Amino acid sequence: MSHMAPSSRKSIMLWSAKRGLFEPSVYESGGQYPREIAEVINALETTSVINVVRPEPHWRMLDVGAGGGRWSISLAGRVGSVTALEPSAIFDLLEARTAPLKNIVCYRKAFQEFESSTEFNLIIISGVLMYILEPAELEKFLEKAIGLTAEAGFLVLREPVARCGQCFTDTTYRSSSDKIELDNCKYWEIIRPEAGYESLCGRYGLKKICSFPSHAPFFYHANLPSASMTKLFRLCASKVICTRNLSLIDAYNRLFRGIYGRLRHLMNSRSMRIMIFTKMP
Ligand SMILES: C[S@@+](CC[C@H](N)C(=O)[O-])C[C@H]1O[C@@H](n2cnc3c(N)ncnc32)[C@H](O)[C@@H]1O
Repeated sequence: MSHMAPSSRKSIMLWSAKRGLFEPSVYESGGQYPREIAEVINALETTSVINVVRPEPHWRMLDVGAGGGRWSISLAGRVGSVTALEPSAIFDLLEARTAPLKNIVCYRKAFQEFESSTEFNLIIISGVLMYILEPAELEKFLEKAIGLTAEAGFLVLREPVARCGQCFTDTTYRSSSDKIELDNCKYWEIIRPEAGYESLCGRYGLKKICSFPSHAPFFYHANLPSASMTKLFRLCASKVICTRNLSLIDAYNRLFRGIYGRLRHLMNSRSMRIMIFTKMP
């Protein structure tokens, strides 16, 4: 860990402390939705990526910061092999859940410590870069990921973006020019403009082929005027937003996620975005 920047080290400690979040569900991404909603969101996200990259059975996939394993497990049946990296205490959950799937290999390693002589056709980095504060660390991280991407292969980033850069510490959004004292906050996010990711990836030979919000809003985290109304709304939402209704929810998602993304962009609000890049021959 010594060659990692402070924010990367702190991120691994943060997620070790949050291991309990990932226990109840394989679909948990850290978003703290109930299991049913997390399962729907995972289905929408993974299907959207599959529809764009069209994985092939001989592909090698790398899942960087695999968490509880949702991307690895959802894609394992579509590719030849999956390498899943998870440096935090969540690793034991990942290892146990992926054990029945013989084409998944897991390593308890940070990406910075990972060495590979093979290239990957598909690399997923989901909710990892948002905790990297130091620009040089981010650039090194992406340069390495791009170096490991096979020609004509895909790099998928799922990270929060906003039109103008922002950061979030504990409970407060700030301008990206504010100095973040990592030692003084428990939770932080670096919300970059999408164009920033695009230009960094472009510098190392990747071209963005598409991007979209990870899903249309379910308003689950909205706070209604009273606590009891909020509770009731959340209860109803978790009954309706479930895989039983997936085709309807998928239609809702296709209809509204683009509009939602544009509105968030106009309002300069944070939105989780899936950005898909390919390596130019
Ligand atoms: C928000 S969670 C996302 C988990 C998963 N990718 C998903 O989308 O469900 C971020 C994960 O990245 C991992 N992580 C943090 N820093 C990392 C690093 N330097 N290399 C690899 N993984 C890292 C954390 O341990 C944590 O499991």
